[in-house]
Amino acid sequence: MKYILLAIGFLAICNVVRCEITVKDCGSKVGKINKVSVPNCTKSPCSLHQGQNYTVNVTFTTKEASDKIFAKVYGIVDSIRVPFFLNQPNACIASGLKCPLKLGTYTYSSTLAILKGYPAIKVDVQWELFDAKEKGNMIFCFETPIQIVG
Ligand SMILES: *[C@@H]1O[C@H](CO)[C@@H](O)[C@H](O)[C@H]1NC(C)=O
Ligand SMILES: *[C@@H]1O[C@H](CO)[C@@H](O)[C@H](O)[C@H]1NC(C)=O
Ligand SMILES: *[C@@H]1O[C@H](CO)[C@@H](O)[C@H](O)[C@H]1NC(C)=O
Repeated sequence: MKYILLAIGFLAICNVVRCEITVKDCGSKVGKINKVSVPNCTKSPCSLHQGQNYTVNVTFTTKEASDKIFAKVYGIVDSIRVPFFLNQPNACIASGLKCPLKLGTYTYSSTLAILKGYPAIKVDVQWELFDAKEKGNMIFCFETPIQIVG
């Protein structure tokens, strides 16, 4: 059953040409993810090195006008969500997004820092964008596996 759900998730958000890395939608509400890319990573899981910063670009379409946008990132370790450090949680700043957003398609560009202290394990990353700092509508949520390497 889980596999069937996953397959449907992939079909809904990707086709082979456009989906640069494999992502699963984890509850996008007012938006829809079109594409997620990480430089030099063409297949999942991306190998990300401790102590390095990685640009993550997310192309999404929103059907809501939002004047504020905040990002949250988690790693899922043993089915527990652990917050990941995000240098800039305000997604209106230095992200390529010009707030307020209107309805339409945008590319959000952010940096994921793989801190030196993160363990060298495979982990599922969940990335969420909300239209308020707390209790906002979820614009998008995607999940993708990464392999942290030393
Ligand atoms: C990510 O987006 C930025 C800003 O739009 C762009 O300059 C950069 O080339 C993009 N990188 C990738 C890997 O798509
Ligand atoms: C991507 O790979 C190229 C060639 O291997 C390398 O020169 C470049 O620094 C890499 N970029 C990133 C962001 O790791
Ligand atoms: C990663 O980004 C942080 C915050 O901008 C910066 O302090 C750090 O030097 C960067 N690390 C690398 C390896 O570029």
